[in-house]
Amino acid sequence: MCGIIGCFKKEGCYDTLLTLLHRLEYRGYDSAGIAVLSSGRKTLTVRKRKGGVSGIEGRRIAGETGIGHTRWATHGAPSDRNAHPHVCGKFALVHNGIIENYLSLKEELVRGGAEVASDTDSEVIVRLIEKVYTGDFFAAVAAACKRLQGSYAIAVLCKDAPGEIVCAKYKSPLVAGASDDALYVCSDIPALCGEAEYICTANDGEFIRIKDSKIVFCDEDGAEISKVFERVSPVLRAEKPQQGSFMEQEIREIPRALAETYVGLKGLDFAVCARELRQTKRLFAVACGTAYHAALAFKDAVERDSKIPVLCHTASEFRYRKPLVCQGDVVVAVSQSGETADTLEAVRLAKNCGAYVIAVTNIEHSSITGLADFSIVMRAGPEIAVAATKSYNCQLLCLYYLAAQLYFYKNAQMPAYYSQLCLLPEAARAAFDTFIPMRILAEKCKSARGMYFLGRDRDVRTAAEGALKVKEIAYVFAEGYAAGELKHGTIALIEEGFPVIMIATNSALTGKCENALEEVRARGAYTVLFTQDEGAMSKSCADFKCLLPSVCEELMPVISVIPLQYFACRMCIERGYDPDKPRNLAKSVTVE
Ligand code: M6R
Repeated sequence: MCGIIGCFKKEGCYDTLLTLLHRLEYRGYDSAGIAVLSSGRKTLTVRKRKGGVSGIEGRRIAGETGIGHTRWATHGAPSDRNAHPHVCGKFALVHNGIIENYLSLKEELVRGGAEVASDTDSEVIVRLIEKVYTGDFFAAVAAACKRLQGSYAIAVLCKDAPGEIVCAKYKSPLVAGASDDALYVCSDIPALCGEAEYICTANDGEFIRIKDSKIVFCDEDGAEISKVFERVSPVLRAEKPQQGSFMEQEIREIPRALAETYVGLKGLDFAVCARELRQTKRLFAVACGTAYHAALAFKDAVERDSKIPVLCHTASEFRYRKPLVCQGDVVVAVSQSGETADTLEAVRLAKNCGAYVIAVTNIEHSSITGLADFSIVMRAGPEIAVAATKSYNCQLLCLYYLAAQLYFYKNAQMPAYYSQLCLLPEAARAAFDTFIPMRILAEKCKSARGMYFLGRDRDVRTAAEGALKVKEIAYVFAEGYAAGELKHGTIALIEEGFPVIMIATNSALTGKCENALEEVRARGAYTVLFTQDEGAMSKSCADFKCLLPSVCEELMPVISVIPLQYFACRMCIERGYDPDKPRNLAKSVTVE
């Protein structure tokens, strides 16, 4: 959730800290802070404040070594005092994660005379470090970490050790980076792109030490661990749009993202997992949020074509359910970031049970790809907006492609839709024609207190995704529902003007969808129909109709969601909010 950085740069780290913090702001924007250590005067300067990164910009702070933080509050409301870095004695610390035993540690520290200055769990770490410090900076951090339960990626400065940053990682992401003139640590690979040329991710239990102008990975005793740095792909870098939001820009990038993902898929050797795909009698799919909707679409495709069950779980539930996963099962983990804590834990669990894990992520060196047996890395490019858009379309493409491979290894031929996958980028571009109608629809619906998104069969997934988008950025209560379920309860909420949005892309079911629209319309609902079927469109009773571009029906979810993504973005703007910074949310959910 929070973003952390550390930087050592002989010419001064201040500008780089702020550049990186701006890039990390999508991880949390409750508050921001930096600490800079200058070797000459051994001064430690801290600037932190509630609000965005721009709130801490100001006079340049001199110093080579620095750490920084963008916060997504877990313990303690957003405020200046809860902002990181937390300082105790000679130390300053930034933390991403959750310290689960912080209350007992806090009690112990208070009993020992500590005056706690914040409501955070993070502060106890820096106080523990200070307490055990006897002159060996690294040893103090390592000793403090032994007392922690939960998850953490920390970066620490010590006044006695100019030029040094000590970092530790356990269950929260941390990556080291190097360029000609600077060394970095960061919670986020994409943020480092364009700054670091080489990167190397830390594993749980590892420490990173920036010292004497070098980066060293070590264990808790300080023994060096040999690691390989890899060149980082510049493609991961995102530029802020000249105007408009990242979200709108990312929706407009969908055709390109699909085209590049398709090229990547074509170059991927699925024969590596042929044995597992051929032999498996069932699959699991684990994911959260938007990625979970993509996983459900995968289930639909595999069960329909390959006739193999796919057990789909939200990753947060999978962990605690004691799922019946075992050797011989294939588990597909879907995650844009590759860092979502729940999905990562689900992957660990699946691996421990002997399953074969296939990851579908957008980030090549992410924690999930590091654990998976086989990774499908989509090429959506960096997705900065908290609301996932282009990554969802690319997840669907990757998952349909994987479903086709599975079908191939079972049936020695590709499913019919396989040859149509290459048409998706063009169809996505054609879906931009719906944007003007979506602006009008958003204007009409902007004052709605709630809305339904309905569909049947595969369109239920699209409905759920449309509803999630509207909830998370426009703050309108929305439900994505199977149209057939209306009469079993939810129709009770229909009243005059209540928007009901029907996605009807399965021609065998458009009649039934139309019936549902008639029923809610008769009760005063404002009805909206999305379909690629011109005949159904002309016959429909809907108050507002939107014609979708046509691709083969199996692939329609990749396309039919585009107007809904744009609609949500416009709803958000119409209601006066920033699509890129939805309240209470962060892009990468790296805590449980
Ligand atoms: O990075 P991931 O795909 O694992 O993230 C999963 C969810 O947190 C994410 O899809 C979330 O639901 C989005 N904000 C939805 O727009």
